[in-house]
Order: sequence, then C-alpha cells, then structure tokens
Amino acid sequence: MNWNAILAPYAQVVEELKVKLKGMRRQFEYEPSDSPIEFVTGRVKPVASILEKAEVRQIPLENIERDMQDIAGVRVVCQFVDDIYTIVTMLRTRNDLAIIEEKDYVSEKKDSGYRSYHMIIEYPVETIMGVKMIIAEIQIRTLAMNFWATNEHSLNYKYRGRIPKEVKERLQRAAEAAFKLDEEMSKIKNEVQEAKRIFHRK
Ligand code: GTP
Ligand code: MG
Repeated sequence: MNWNAILAPYAQVVEELKVKLKGMRRQFEYEPSDSPIEFVTGRVKPVASILEKAEVRQIPLENIERDMQDIAGVRVVCQFVDDIYTIVTMLRTRNDLAIIEEKDYVSEKKDSGYRSYHMIIEYPVETIMGVKMIIAEIQIRTLAMNFWATNEHSLNYKYRGRIPKEVKERLQRAAEAAFKLDEEMSKIKNEVQEAKRIFHRK
C-alpha cells in the first residue's frame, strides 16, 4: 500500500478544516460576543494506528476509506459547555460539508467518563484526479473535557487499554470533577465575559 498517496487527501482535509474553523474564531474578534472556539487542533491518524484499528475492528484495508471514519480528525476546544452547541449549530448550516452522523457524549457520557460532541462529516477535497469525498471526524469539547480525555488517553496508552481498577475509579471521579467545573463555570459565564469586555479587548 502506498500510504503517502492514500493519506495525502486526508492531510489536505485536516489542513482545510483547521483553516476554516480558525477562520470562524477570527471572525468573532469583530463581533460583540466572545468566540465559542478557544482553539483548534487536527491530525491524520498515523499508519500504525490505522493498521492496529483495522485489525481490532476487522476492517479490510480496502474498506478503510468508508469504514474508518477518524483517519482525518479535527478537534474544537471551547471554554463553556454551551459553546459546544453553538459550534454544532453553526456547522449544521454550512454547505461546504455534509454531516453523516452526530454523537452527543456531552449530555450522555460514555462509561469511561468521556464527554465530547462528535460529528462525522463528508467533505469534498480537490485532488489532481478531481473531487474526492473524504470522511472526517470533528470532536467538540470544553477545556475541562479535553484535559480529562488527554490524560485518560495517555493512561490507556500506558496500560494498553487495561487501566487498573483503582486508576479507573480515580478517572471516574476526575470526570465527575471536570463536569462540576464545567457546570460552575457555566453559571458565571456572563460575568466572565462582561469582565473581559470591560478590562480587555472588546
Ligand atoms: P472508534 O472506533 O474509536 O472511533 O469508536 P467509535 O466508532 O465507537 O466512536 P466513538 O465516538 O465512541 O469514539 C471516537 C473517538 O472518540 C475515539 O477515537 C477517541 O478519539 C474518542 N473517544 C471515545 N471514547 C473515548 C474515551 O473513553 N476516552 C478518550 N480519551 N477518548 C475517547
Ligand atoms: Mg469512530
């Protein structure tokens, strides 16, 4: 398999989506309201991870473009929980991408304690052979959710998916604490934003 050739359009999509989402952030600089986007990251799944997931999920390599939906991944991180839904609403109205699936793990957390809003999208990318539809995953989450998820991901990596019971319980409590933090911050969102308007930028 020529992985560089296969992954080139995915890299293109990640770069384009990052530019567009960062563009949304920049437009808010000229609006009275604060940006719902704090920062944006993106990555193409490394070949080793693609092979590993294909093996575990029993996905034949000729089907990965359809069945492995996170080869292109972008992440939008927000300050507040309601910012997540603002971004979701904005993405739904765009006509440069088609939403295939939405998973709301924000209001319905996963058993691990994971919270995030996931969108699987289809995005047309221009290649030298014409337009190609690429599937990508957009994860939208708060800073607190992101803090939890990146640490849990590291632990999963360390323990190869078999996190010891005590550590798992700590993670559950940490997830609960992150959720509480988001709830408390939501309650003072207006005050925080007003303070920013008075003392800084807007
Ligand atoms: P994948 O095959 O892993 O994509 O799972 P899925 O098809 O059931 O989709 P799901 O929405 O559950 O997960 C997609 C992605 O969300 C994963 O690749 C991770 O990036 C992230 N994710 C899901 N669950 C967890 C979790 O418990 N912890 C962390 N850290 N990330 C998670
Ligand atoms: Mg998935």
